[in-house]
Amino acid sequence: MGLFSKNSKPSQQAYAVVTGAGSGIGQSFALELGKRGGTVVCADINLAAAEKTVALLAEHGAKAYAVACDVGQAEQVAALAEQAEQLMQHPVTLVINNAGVGLGGKFDELSLEDWQWVTHVNLWGVIHGCHYFVPKFKKLGHGAIINVASAAGYTAAPEMTAYNVTKSGVLALSETLFAELKKSDIKVNVLCPTLVPTNIIKNGRIPSRYSGLADHALMNFAMTTSEAVAKLTLNRLDKGKLYTIPQLDAKLFWLMKRVSPNLYTKFLGFSYSFFK
Ligand SMILES: NC(=O)c1ccc[n+]([C@@H]2O[C@H](COP(=O)([O-])OP(=O)(O)OC[C@H]3O[C@@H](n4cnc5c(N)ncnc54)[C@H](O)[C@@H]3O)[C@@H](O)[C@H]2O)c1
Repeated sequence: MGLFSKNSKPSQQAYAVVTGAGSGIGQSFALELGKRGGTVVCADINLAAAEKTVALLAEHGAKAYAVACDVGQAEQVAALAEQAEQLMQHPVTLVINNAGVGLGGKFDELSLEDWQWVTHVNLWGVIHGCHYFVPKFKKLGHGAIINVASAAGYTAAPEMTAYNVTKSGVLALSETLFAELKKSDIKVNVLCPTLVPTNIIKNGRIPSRYSGLADHALMNFAMTTSEAVAKLTLNRLDKGKLYTIPQLDAKLFWLMKRVSPNLYTKFLGFSYSFFK
């Protein structure tokens, strides 16, 4: 393993594993890594979707492989970590723990099964990815991790409790890992966007009273594309930055929450009771 040299910019010529690579932000990460000379293992619970991303990468001359994986199942992520090395004939140098699902609804509308479903994918998926790849990176002597959280990890937006909890967990995990690995040659970045137009609403469990709104209004007014988000995140990873907060609204909420958490939560409660 010591023979495999490190690239000072981990997004360049990466040997990468991207989870949830069959759609949206994950697909954009995979395609951007291909443009940067990388070899990409596209993992997704939906193998046909991962294969489509691989075909797109192949069109651009990039080497890529599709693997079926449910990130919530520890043994499947363990197998992915081994299979990725065998397929690429090279140690993995970058893992992007991106797979995730959307869940909305008031706290008392959510079943325990809803909580288990979203936690299984959004939180355990990232825990599994870090659990199986960090030791490999330590052994290799270098590596990089991008965890896809969300601005939901700090905005505490109403009617998104369970989703918010999973994303706060991903944020805390990433911040802690960054501190623990600071002295090593393993970079960590956490992505916290607000809305990005993808299939997350269509694929998620969102009460019907919101799906129309999300599809037609919010998603269309979203301030950035998945391609732009992927590019920015990889550039920030290369610079050794921990946080990627791509949009203006995400930055504003971040600032408000930090400057005055009391005022922020009062404002949140007020605007929720006003608009609902
Ligand atoms: N789109 C947004 O507005 C937005 C905002 C903030 C954060 N995010 C986060 O971005 C990430 C990507 O979401 P997206 O918006 O691209 O959604 P998407 O639905 O377009 O893509 C998600 C992909 O993950 C895959 N997936 C779902 N469950 C899986 C599992 N158990 N194992 C492996 N793969 C699985 C799906 O098959 C799909 O290909 C998620 O973590 C999401 O929470 C999205």
